[in-house]
Amino acid sequence: MKPNEFGPFSPEEINRKAQGLIQPEYGLFIDGEWAPSATGKTIELYNPATGAVLTKIQAGGAADVEKAVQAAHRAFSSWSQSAPRERQEILLEMARRLRKRLDDYAMIETLNNGKPISEARVFDIPMAISLFELFAGGAYTLHGKTIDYPDAVGMVHREPYGVCAQIIPWNVPIIMMANKIAPAIVSGNTVVLKPAETVCVSVLEFFREMQDIIPKGVVNVVTGFGGDVGPHLVEHPLVQKVAFTGSVGTARKILEYSTKNIIPATLELGGKSANIVFADADLDAAVEGAVMCNIFNKGEVCLSGTRLFVEESILDVMLDKLKDTLAKVRIGDPTNPATQLGPQASLAQFKKVCGYFDLAREEGAEIAIGGKPAKVPGLDQGYFVEPTLFTKVDNKMRIAQEEIFGPVTCVIPFKTEEEALQLANQSFYGLGGGLWTKDLRRAHQISRGMQTGTIWVNRYYNFKEGMPVGGYKQSGVGREFSLDALEHYTQTKSVVINLNEGPLGIFSH
Ligand code: NAI
Ligand code: MG
Repeated sequence: MKPNEFGPFSPEEINRKAQGLIQPEYGLFIDGEWAPSATGKTIELYNPATGAVLTKIQAGGAADVEKAVQAAHRAFSSWSQSAPRERQEILLEMARRLRKRLDDYAMIETLNNGKPISEARVFDIPMAISLFELFAGGAYTLHGKTIDYPDAVGMVHREPYGVCAQIIPWNVPIIMMANKIAPAIVSGNTVVLKPAETVCVSVLEFFREMQDIIPKGVVNVVTGFGGDVGPHLVEHPLVQKVAFTGSVGTARKILEYSTKNIIPATLELGGKSANIVFADADLDAAVEGAVMCNIFNKGEVCLSGTRLFVEESILDVMLDKLKDTLAKVRIGDPTNPATQLGPQASLAQFKKVCGYFDLAREEGAEIAIGGKPAKVPGLDQGYFVEPTLFTKVDNKMRIAQEEIFGPVTCVIPFKTEEEALQLANQSFYGLGGGLWTKDLRRAHQISRGMQTGTIWVNRYYNFKEGMPVGGYKQSGVGREFSLDALEHYTQTKSVVINLNEGPLGIFSH
């Protein structure tokens, strides 16, 4: 490839890519119509590679939530009684339309979130498509059951809850949207979705395109700040279910709101996952996996293996290989197909990551590579940071216990299997995890011993359609990304039909 063929592009060139793909302003999507917020306020969204304003969204509030919940409530009676075939067909059409414009959606996700376009094309949009297809298949799996008695027949029906509040984050917005709305609507619920106030253009574009196939009110979208929309939405008496992905702190608030209505909550809350490398592992594969954990989606991934535990005998060689590979990572314009590491998604996230560089020094860790903002020629307003390795880390340090959500890995040596497992489990979180070894007995025993929802043996981020994702401990409640999610969107109703005739005779004396 020629040096200039893939950039760095200028901010002007990058912003031009938004033309025709991104509207200057987005409304709220309520009852099948787009309208401004009753607050009269808007929020600016940025392109994190250039720091330039990308578009504006509505800063929704209580009155908008009221309209959206009423619309979803009105839509519920007919939607919940629609044919499985109809619900399936809508999800399949969503998948078809996403696939048709895969490159456009990938570019939109990249322009707003900063993720490399190469990732958006092969990961984000394809995963959203496969989620719609997976849950389309779920339309015919919503079986109840029957139980026979000598004098009665019992029928257990599975019924949708009603209006669901769904609140999603900014790191993988289109995946999160698909992962939330698909199981909810395929099982006959209606939705009020609140996307993140920093990254949500792809989600809004999706609903613009799908407007003609979504029956009025079945999905409504209220954008805005969490504190302005969240409590009104989750506490609304007509809302029957809440699902949230984001931080533990916000999850605690969601749970508090949910006590008003006594509604169930599905929560997915990030992690500080262990990635354990034993001396017998394929080292090059393990290095590749550890580097992927570091840079994939700029490290803004809830499942990332951010605590890298390395058997002491291979620590030096592993560190050398890691530094070598990380030093060659191509940081830059995320719309450039050759780029491997883009900017953090927002200024707030950039500042948060940089704060951990200072904390690492204060806590007495060492920075083996990185540890500062990255300079990208032509993009000096972008939120770039260097891929970073912390060494001399104690697992009890805050840098090893708190989710950083950046291209940052803590490297921690261990001596024995027991120690590796004990350190891995020394965390409030338990979402993802990795394990590298050729020993089958060890792979099996350690993975069963790890207190976490997903473990990838000998390949990190080995996402397989239909495998459940969800947290142990404070990483959350419930399972998503699989048909198991349908359990969270249906409740059972028991109907017992008496097969005897006449009264029991209790009062005839
Ligand atoms: P957050 O949890 O505050 O935001 C996630 C979503 O919740 C957004 O849509 C936000 O508007 C909404 N929200 C915020 N306050 C709310 C409230 N009171 N009621 C209802 N909804 C509310 O996360 P934030 O501040 O964007 O990121 C902070 C950290 O959280 C990140 O650095 C990362 O460590 C973690 N995080 C984890 C994610 C995951 O995938 N599990 C995703 C995003 C963030
Ligand atoms: Mg927050």
